[in-house]
Amino acid sequence: MTDVFGLSHKDAGSVTGQTRHEQVVFCSDERSGLRAIIAIHNTALGPALGGTRFYPYESEQAALADVLNLSRAMAYKNALAGLDLGGGKAVIIGDPAADKSEALLRAYGRFVQSLGGRYFTACDVGTYSEDMDVVARESSYVTGRTLAHGGAGDSSILTAYGVFQGMRAAAEHSWGSPSLRGRRVGVEGVGKVGHRLVDHLVEDGAEVVVCDVSERAVERLVGRHPQVRVVADRLELTASALDVYAPCALGGALDDDTVARLSATVVCGGANNQLGHPGVEKQLADRGILYAPDYVVNAGGVIQVADEIEGFNMDRARAKATQIYDTTLKIFSSAAEDGVPPAVAADRLAERRMSEVGRIRGIWLGH
Ligand SMILES: NC(=O)c1ccc[n+]([C@@H]2O[C@H](COP(=O)([O-])OP(=O)(O)OC[C@H]3O[C@@H](n4cnc5c(N)ncnc54)[C@H](O)[C@@H]3O)[C@@H](O)[C@H]2O)c1
Repeated sequence: MTDVFGLSHKDAGSVTGQTRHEQVVFCSDERSGLRAIIAIHNTALGPALGGTRFYPYESEQAALADVLNLSRAMAYKNALAGLDLGGGKAVIIGDPAADKSEALLRAYGRFVQSLGGRYFTACDVGTYSEDMDVVARESSYVTGRTLAHGGAGDSSILTAYGVFQGMRAAAEHSWGSPSLRGRRVGVEGVGKVGHRLVDHLVEDGAEVVVCDVSERAVERLVGRHPQVRVVADRLELTASALDVYAPCALGGALDDDTVARLSATVVCGGANNQLGHPGVEKQLADRGILYAPDYVVNAGGVIQVADEIEGFNMDRARAKATQIYDTTLKIFSSAAEDGVPPAVAADRLAERRMSEVGRIRGIWLGH
């Protein structure tokens, strides 16, 4: 196990050297048990924004690898969401059920504050709006707070809405109409994002098939929408006749077997990191399956919490999330023009915005 907290300043510097991250900060407070890593991938477009993941990592090396990857992904997501925000993320190493305490969260808040606004935090796996309220007692750079504290509340509302906009764009590109009416959509995972996505789909007239490992999640969904068909698992879902496959559970849904089996001609869902390994985006394209890049269509959540920085307004945030429709269409057409999979076209567009808009900061403003 690499003890990253034991690294010398020089060694820690080499981490950023290898990964091209702007800044990686190791935070430790022995009394509260806090061990956290904050990673800022880049601030070309503005302060870095990304959630805090509280997770019992097997090793500090695994935590470091995760935060480096996640902060890079946030830079791309924020860039294509049209936000004036860079990419960052934080991880707290520990079991949230056992290790989370007021002292630990407040100690963490002081480290966030010490970055002077270079990094804004929010919720992620293992952290909730109530936790952000505690972190905010020590830091001004906190979003994803509770409604009672002027926050945006549950970000899955606009995440699901944005995924639906991305799916409408994929329908327009594939079938010449954005409507999902009569299309068969398979939703894997009907948790916070998945069940709200089903609400939109049912309202639009789609035929919905779902699977979830949680019986409670399925029961709750069927209670709301008795017409939804339930299948056992991903295998059964992806083997059934679908027009759209919407991964809304964990990452890595698109592995070699799933891609080979898929009858759907569109993949569009809320889960992060859907592509199981590099090259899957090409396998999808070769099979004629249109993949709506995950970080583009699931940006509604970050759009919702980013809006808090200005003082939260749901209508304004929803209007911004509606633009995911246009962004997704633009990615499909630039992918077709350049002869590359949409995932590659999305990365190129994000990099272009970071470079072009980031460059203008070089214009000297005078005194
Ligand atoms: N909540 C947000 O605002 C947001 C924003 C962007 C991305 N995401 C991503 O969307 C995905 C879902 O997030 P969420 O907030 O809805 O989480 P959640 O925990 O509320 O829901 C996930 C659901 O997936 C189910 N599940 C887990 N493993 C499964 C499997 N193998 N097969 C079928 N179902 C399975 C769980 O039982 C649960 O019901 C995650 O990948 C998350 O990173 C969420």
